[in-house]
Amino acid sequence: MEQCKVIAITNQKGGVGKTTTTVNLGVGLARQGYRVLLLDADPQGSLSVSLGLKQPDDLPVSLATILQKVMEEESVPVECGVHHHAEGVDFIPANIELSGIEVNLVNTMSREYVLKSHVSHLRKHYDYILIDCMPSLGMMTINALVAADSVLIPSQPNFLSTKGLNLLMRSIARVKRQINPGLTMDGILLTMVDSRTNNAKSIIASLRSTVGQNLRVFQSEIPYSVRAAECSNEGKSIFAHDKTSKVAQSYDALTKEVIELERKETHRSRSDWVR
Ligand SMILES: Nc1ncnc2c1ncn2[C@@H]1O[C@H](COP(=O)(O)OP(=O)(O)OP(=O)(O)O)[C@@H](O)[C@H]1O
Ligand SMILES: [Mg+2]
Repeated sequence: MEQCKVIAITNQKGGVGKTTTTVNLGVGLARQGYRVLLLDADPQGSLSVSLGLKQPDDLPVSLATILQKVMEEESVPVECGVHHHAEGVDFIPANIELSGIEVNLVNTMSREYVLKSHVSHLRKHYDYILIDCMPSLGMMTINALVAADSVLIPSQPNFLSTKGLNLLMRSIARVKRQINPGLTMDGILLTMVDSRTNNAKSIIASLRSTVGQNLRVFQSEIPYSVRAAECSNEGKSIFAHDKTSKVAQSYDALTKEVIELERKETHRSRSDWVR
């Protein structure tokens, strides 16, 4: 790929599948030959645990260390804090220290740009950087939206989640208007879908026909399955845990949709340039 694409995986609602999607889309992209970096931007450190780090709070270097250095205007080497996972992705872990950093960010100059400043050095080494956001719309998530080129929103198909989407969309629109005009929406990913229930079916149908008019709702839907929950305990992706499962097939299909998006965007910007 000529250019790196940075995707913020975000939803202020907790437990909707952000971390699971970051791991499995990330490994999915690496399996297609892309160079991938996953950033844990959540002090819970779930991404780090899902990638096999048992005690992220004990780590001497994490995303918090990097952001602290950026705030102190120290230079940070690109390899700082980077771990290599056996399934071919790199990642920068996070831990509880990140919540202290979020507090410090509020009183820092250019506070919205701290993560972007480091991400811009990382771009030349990767094709995709995925940021696993925490379940809030606080300063850390704003930093992720400012550092990103696009946003992917995992959401469970239930009424409360779709209500929260409006709030999220407003925050994204504000960041786009005021700070990051190039920010685009990749779309909404339906997660933990139990397609046997009529409630899920009717919410999905109404979401696709209403929200879907203005916003992409990915064709791939991630089914509810205990397989998805099992693999994070093992520090593996669903592809290593059970590659024949429906969840693996869905994340593989999502990966292809995400790659296809990029292909279309590149094509569009080339033809804009020609004109
Ligand atoms: N498709 C799925 N089917 C069943 N369980 C799932 C699925 N995807 C994720 N889970 C489980 O649901 C829980 C929440 O998922 P995950 O941690 O990915 O959500 P999150 O949005 O990152 O949460 P948080 O807001 O706390 O960061 C986890 O225990 C995870 O293993
Ligand atoms: Mg998470």
